[in-house]
Amino acid sequence: MTVLITGGGGFLGAWIIRRLAARGIDMRVFDRREDRGVVRAIAGDVADQLDWRTGDIAAGSDLSRAAEGCDFAIHLAALLTPDCAENPILSAQVNLIGTLNVFEAAKSAGMRGVAYASSAGVFGPDDGAVPYPTTQYGAFKLACEGSARAYWADARISSVGFRPAIVYGPGRETGQTAGPTLACRAATVGQSYTIGYSGRADMIYVDDVAAVFEAAATRSFEGAHAFSLVGEVADVSEIAAGIRHHVPNAVIDWCGPPLSLHPVIAPSPIGAVLGELPHTPLIDGLGRTVAFYQSGAVT
Ligand SMILES: NC(=O)c1ccc[n+]([C@@H]2O[C@H](COP(=O)([O-])OP(=O)(O)OC[C@H]3O[C@@H](n4cnc5c(N)ncnc54)[C@H](O)[C@@H]3O)[C@@H](O)[C@H]2O)c1
Repeated sequence: MTVLITGGGGFLGAWIIRRLAARGIDMRVFDRREDRGVVRAIAGDVADQLDWRTGDIAAGSDLSRAAEGCDFAIHLAALLTPDCAENPILSAQVNLIGTLNVFEAAKSAGMRGVAYASSAGVFGPDDGAVPYPTTQYGAFKLACEGSARAYWADARISSVGFRPAIVYGPGRETGQTAGPTLACRAATVGQSYTIGYSGRADMIYVDDVAAVFEAAATRSFEGAHAFSLVGEVADVSEIAAGIRHHVPNAVIDWCGPPLSLHPVIAPSPIGAVLGELPHTPLIDGLGRTVAFYQSGAVT
């Protein structure tokens, strides 16, 4: 089996690659740039053995060439919330058209299915159960879920979309919600850090999300699903306290508005489709993140 991983050069991709490599699964990365640094930091030497194709997800021809011979697609390539707010047209091309390109490539290559990163951004600030996005990013993610259902109805392409809120852990260094991870990094080198949002949000450890994608790639399922991924709800003050538990002298504060997504995300019946999945408590995930920035090794 060969798994195509779009956006595989990013944070989440690196952790998924680490898991799939441990199972001996062949992978092909598709990313707009060939920078293997994050994958190397998280997954080790496997980074240098990957079949890596560069191209723009918004260009169907780039992607269909890369998809030839692949059996399953993990689709991560996207622009994150700040880029979508700044440039909605470009972001629609990448996040929305790019996702349609993945489904078209899956159809042409006869793939078994697609697992893609949606987001808890599909929920607005007022409700964590009924999607009502108030960001361009969330709106595009929600549209992708609808298109995935249409690809199941029209072409029988099975898919599963996952909606995490804040994914944190070693390697999460960009995007609006990178603050908790960057605070862990700063604490390990004795620097103070200001997290750029306030209030509560659901935090999920990156390896738990990687495990969900691994399950989707290795178990058989049918239909078009969209599952919310629930970690642990934490106020920024609790995150700062959690980091201080591991680095007692850490100086962490926060400022800025609350995030534009509801802090409490309703759980989805994911286990019925993908079975038992890991759940890392926040205090342990922060500890593993601190340990990574102290030692350079994933624990
Ligand atoms: N990190 C989070 O907290 C979080 C939360 C919810 C959902 N997600 C989703 O998970 C996915 C992965 O997120 P991440 O944190 O790993 O982001 P990331 O920015 O680290 O990785 C995204 C990757 O996509 C690539 N990419 C961007 N535009 C591209 C294009 N036009 N063509 C080809 N490749 C392109 C980038 O080069 C990058 O390697 C995204 O779809 C994101 O929306 C992330």
